Amino acid sequence: MFNDIFLKACRHEDVPYTPVWYMRQAGRYQEEYRAVREKYSFFDISRNPDVCAKVTRLPVDKLGVDAAILFADIMTPLKARGLGVEIVEGVGPVIEHPVKSGKDLARLGELDPRSDVPYVLDTVNLLHQQLQVPLIGFAGAPFTLASYLVEGGPSKNYHRTKAFMYTQPGDWNVLMDYLSGLTVTYLKAQIEAGAQAVQVFDSWVGALGEEDYRTYIAPTMVKIFTELKNTGAVSIYFGAGAGHLLKEWAKLPADVLSIDWRTSLADARRQGADKALQGNLDPSLLLAPWSVLKERAKKILDESDGKNGFIFNLGHGVFPEVREQTLKALTDFVHDYSQNLKKL
Ligand code: CP3
Repeated sequence: MFNDIFLKACRHEDVPYTPVWYMRQAGRYQEEYRAVREKYSFFDISRNPDVCAKVTRLPVDKLGVDAAILFADIMTPLKARGLGVEIVEGVGPVIEHPVKSGKDLARLGELDPRSDVPYVLDTVNLLHQQLQVPLIGFAGAPFTLASYLVEGGPSKNYHRTKAFMYTQPGDWNVLMDYLSGLTVTYLKAQIEAGAQAVQVFDSWVGALGEEDYRTYIAPTMVKIFTELKNTGAVSIYFGAGAGHLLKEWAKLPADVLSIDWRTSLADARRQGADKALQGNLDPSLLLAPWSVLKERAKKILDESDGKNGFIFNLGHGVFPEVREQTLKALTDFVHDYSQNLKKL
């Protein structure tokens, strides 16, 4: 039987318990994933639909989560357009030739999902047939993609990206237009292939202050979520350390806002976020003793007040040191505890 509780929670409909999934739920903390990585490079997994679908299904089978997220990276569509990018262990995406102007983008050209990323669409298609839970497709948001393109890799303070934004506003607009077009095209193709939800990862946008977000980013995000409105899929917007942007986020036509542990659910509501919320357990708590972890998960569920419109998740991704049994126990706890809350 198909479990659509996650989709119902995203749409603010009645649910019998709080659905749960975890960012980076497929990854190195799993023995089976590490075994696959012995044989395939990161991007080789994506290019092989059978292997990619298996990796995507692993957390559903092992943890009992209520949604699957496509296994890929935010750089996947750019790599497919010929960008020189590799995933470096312990670092993340590293770009061969960082972007310096709008001209560098013209060389990449528009994304044609069918010819550029057929393996992604084949994987989504396969998963659509195999899964008994919804599949979340995803893409990187323009600011977060731009930060990798301009900095050449991860960054502590995003000085180069911000300097680009302030000093080359024309080129910045070209960059935002290009990346928002890419994101929308890529997500719509995933939805057509069978993804019932899409998450837009703006992991590093919290580096911007509210005014800069409003000026340089918000118009692009309005465009993206407006384009996703009539696709039939629910849309989720994620950023880390972005609690100070919630007033702006609340105005976006996204269905769900995904927040981290630096902002409580009550605080998010106070800032006008009346959409469905997702989050927000600190992933470091996955290394805490079970009694501590359980109390903190309970606090989040109590704060959500057994109400509809909440999806339990982490505030950021699972990391390799976490034990799979911990995530399994947490999943069971969230299901059981929230089910009882709903009965009260
Ligand atoms: O969540 C999932 O299970 C789906 C797969 C997924 C991955 N990356 C797999 C991955 C998703 C949704 C992403 C998105 C992604 N990639 C984001 C946005 C989410 C976030 O965490 O903020 C970002 C910023 C990236 C860029 C990136 N790719 C980073 C920072 C890293 C980690 C580097 C490291 O070694 O710690 C990657 C690599 C990556 N992406 C891994 C996985 C499972 C681990 C690398 C490996 O297996 O070798």
